[in-house]
Amino acid sequence: MNDRNLLEKYKPMALVTGASSGIGEQFAVQLAAAGFDLVLVARRAERLAALASRLDAEHGVSSTVIVADLAHPDGVQRVIADTAALDIGLLVSNAGFGLKGPHHENDPGQMSDMLMVNCHAPMLLTHAFIPRLRARGSGGIILTSSVEALLGFPNSASYAASKAFVNSLAEGLWGELSPLGIDVLAVCPGSTDTEAHDLQGIDRSKLEGVMSPAAVVQATLDSLGDGPTFIAGAQNEEMFTAMAAMPRRDALMLLGDAIRQSLLPRD
Ligand SMILES: NC(=O)c1ccc[n+]([C@@H]2O[C@H](COP(=O)([O-])OP(=O)(O)OC[C@H]3O[C@@H](n4cnc5c(N)ncnc54)[C@H](OP(=O)(O)O)[C@@H]3O)[C@@H](O)[C@H]2O)c1
Repeated sequence: MNDRNLLEKYKPMALVTGASSGIGEQFAVQLAAAGFDLVLVARRAERLAALASRLDAEHGVSSTVIVADLAHPDGVQRVIADTAALDIGLLVSNAGFGLKGPHHENDPGQMSDMLMVNCHAPMLLTHAFIPRLRARGSGGIILTSSVEALLGFPNSASYAASKAFVNSLAEGLWGELSPLGIDVLAVCPGSTDTEAHDLQGIDRSKLEGVMSPAAVVQATLDSLGDGPTFIAGAQNEEMFTAMAAMPRRDALMLLGDAIRQSLLPRD
């Protein structure tokens, strides 16, 4: 379904977390092109400032930067406090990262940070923004999840579990908010061509069916009324529909092998 016209009801402003690269940067680019003023959130200040200047110049919009580390409760609270007076109609909670490899080999501190960014931040941002969206009588919430939310992923166990939280959160919020005219959508991208692969030690040459961040975002913005969750890309949808129909144990073994084979050797 093409629901681009839904975007009009969220104007004038959208907030995008994880806007300094990848999928979040593309959300910012496509929302600016659609005429949104923006609040851009991430840790890398220079990237956010450069993006804000570019989008303002190219699209005549007004972008505000909030530098915040969403792994820390203070960072989430600053985003909530600094946006209290703004008429934000669309929340895009996109910041996130993954950890690959055998669960017991991953760093406990990084795993805790991952849960804070992937789960705690969207939980508290939606908690703070829902009363604001209700007060303005319309709005939208996009949560960036992953196809890894759809079943367990050996060699990506805690990341997949964190994204299952995101899908469940989106489903619950969709049930609460869609009767009130507030759209909720968790997008489940498959492999997408961003810096995330390098950060997780994935060998890009082993990946198939990789989508561009632009295509993921375009599909998401076109599907805003199709909540609570959707899989970006026909190939991903076909593959994960087939996986869901397989005996669960067989699907888990296949996925575990695929991830293991895509990992670069660790030092
Ligand atoms: N790429 C894929 O194949 C893929 C597939 C499925 C789902 N996803 C999901 O898509 C979302 C975006 O990822 P991406 O692929 O676009 O990767 P990316 O290019 O690495 O972008 C991740 C974004 O999250 C921000 N971020 C990470 N940690 C943060 C922290 N502690 N505080 C604030 N911001 C933080 C980063 O900004 P700073 O580093 O500047 O803080 C960056 O803007 C994530 O939720 C990811 O799980 C990605």
